[in-house]
Amino acid sequence: MQATCELESGCTASAKVPSGASTGINEAVELRDDDPERYGGKGVLTAVANVNSEINSALTGMDPGDQRAVDSRLTELDGTDNKGRLGANAILGASLAVARANAKERSIPLFEQLSPRDRYTLPVPMFNILNGGQHADNNVDIQEFMVLPVGLPTFRDALRSAAEIFQTLKGILKGKGYNTAVGDEGGFAPQLRSNEEPMELLVAAIEKAGYAPGSEVYIGLDAAASEFCSNGMYVFDQSDGSSRDPSGMAAMWEDWAGRYPLLSLEDGFSEVDYAGWKIGTDRLGQQLQLVGDDLFVTNPRIFASGIADGLGNSILIKLNQIGTLTETLDCIQMARDNGYTFIISHRSGETADTTIADLAVASGGGQIKTGSTCRSDRVAKYNRLLEIEAALGPRATYAGRDAFQDWL
Ligand code: PGA
Ligand code: ZN
Repeated sequence: MQATCELESGCTASAKVPSGASTGINEAVELRDDDPERYGGKGVLTAVANVNSEINSALTGMDPGDQRAVDSRLTELDGTDNKGRLGANAILGASLAVARANAKERSIPLFEQLSPRDRYTLPVPMFNILNGGQHADNNVDIQEFMVLPVGLPTFRDALRSAAEIFQTLKGILKGKGYNTAVGDEGGFAPQLRSNEEPMELLVAAIEKAGYAPGSEVYIGLDAAASEFCSNGMYVFDQSDGSSRDPSGMAAMWEDWAGRYPLLSLEDGFSEVDYAGWKIGTDRLGQQLQLVGDDLFVTNPRIFASGIADGLGNSILIKLNQIGTLTETLDCIQMARDNGYTFIISHRSGETADTTIADLAVASGGGQIKTGSTCRSDRVAKYNRLLEIEAALGPRATYAGRDAFQDWL
């Protein structure tokens, strides 16, 4: 859905909010109408009405430059812990529309409004070029196989390498008689022999495209393990039916990290398996970036308790998991304060909105995850980053290896 903010001057700006397929259980509530007669229950007339009535009245007269006050007003107005009354989709739409309108009125780009600085860091993109899990109808249990062009000199070169690797992968898949239709995030989604085959395919594609795996380009995974964990066991039921306890799961990741140029592992354990996360962090944390997505759900309170328990060493940042810009920025600050890296992320259900590209540059964490080099909802973010890099000229530096210095 989309919300529009109009300022006194008549300046208007809009923001669109995305939606996820493999959501964490503790995410803020995305309000849908549940009217089976419309869009299979997925309509958002209630959330839209909330923006046009209550939210509109509550924000009228406020200073758009005071984002924290705007977002506090929104959360107080909602009155629940999970934004379930007005809907995180309604609230986030309003929160981001205010930020965008303010930047537009001041005639500055959004990233500059979010963080005015002389120099900016362009993020390393994590390109999800092979999809499985909830994002594809194939027999791969692991959700995302990504290439990370860490060793390229600029964002522009990184994007080019990923586009070339993606097309090379297509050729390899075709050569094997595999399907080359794409999944939710624009990665290929073929039926494969095993969960490990994508690792071999990615390395082959990186090499064949002329890049060096393990120095120029690394691999990242989002296992989205909450989706294949039940009763404390990890079961690959889409592929070979094998199952592992948390230690077995950690052993499998360790084995892969030893045999492939694996650098980042997201949700390698389930969102409720704190013991597994702890085992995994103790065993793999020196070697791999261990990213909590479902585990932390961009929620400062949940993240704080995960940090206290020593779970993971990185957090995935999704605005709509928490529902306001200010709480998202608070989560990012918490990551910085505690030595966690952070990755600004899209959702599997995306729009053409490019806010996360600006947020990635403004927050300076040096990592963004926004799909493959395919599907215009994904490419829009990469194009926005190209635009920012070009506009900044010598004021832009590509994050490259610095973003992963704990593991490289
Ligand atoms: P989602 O997937 O948007 O379906 O939750 C993205 C992710 O798990 O990172
Ligand atoms: Zn994830």
